[in-house]
Amino acid sequence: PFEIELARSKTVLTVPADSSVLDVLTKAGADVLSSCRQGVCGTCEVTVLSGEPDHRDSVLNDTERAAGTCMFACVSRSRSDRLVVDL
Ligand code: FES
Repeated sequence: PFEIELARSKTVLTVPADSSVLDVLTKAGADVLSSCRQGVCGTCEVTVLSGEPDHRDSVLNDTERAAGTCMFACVSRSRSDRLVVDL
């Protein structure tokens, strides 16, 4: 599990191993759109302010992956204990 902090509302949520970031965010009422839920369409893009995303999508190229400034919430997870996102 890891934590996701919503920078605008200062809310901290826990993402358990069996839930996606997208599920946790939408359950908490965050406004994140989704479509494919398989990491291919790019709809669920979330801006990452700090922390290191564990990219599991098929959208980003290597440079974007290394930059770590956005993530696709339906599939990607976190390498750090906490990710801070611009929500
Ligand atoms: Fe398509 Fe996440 S919903 S990439």
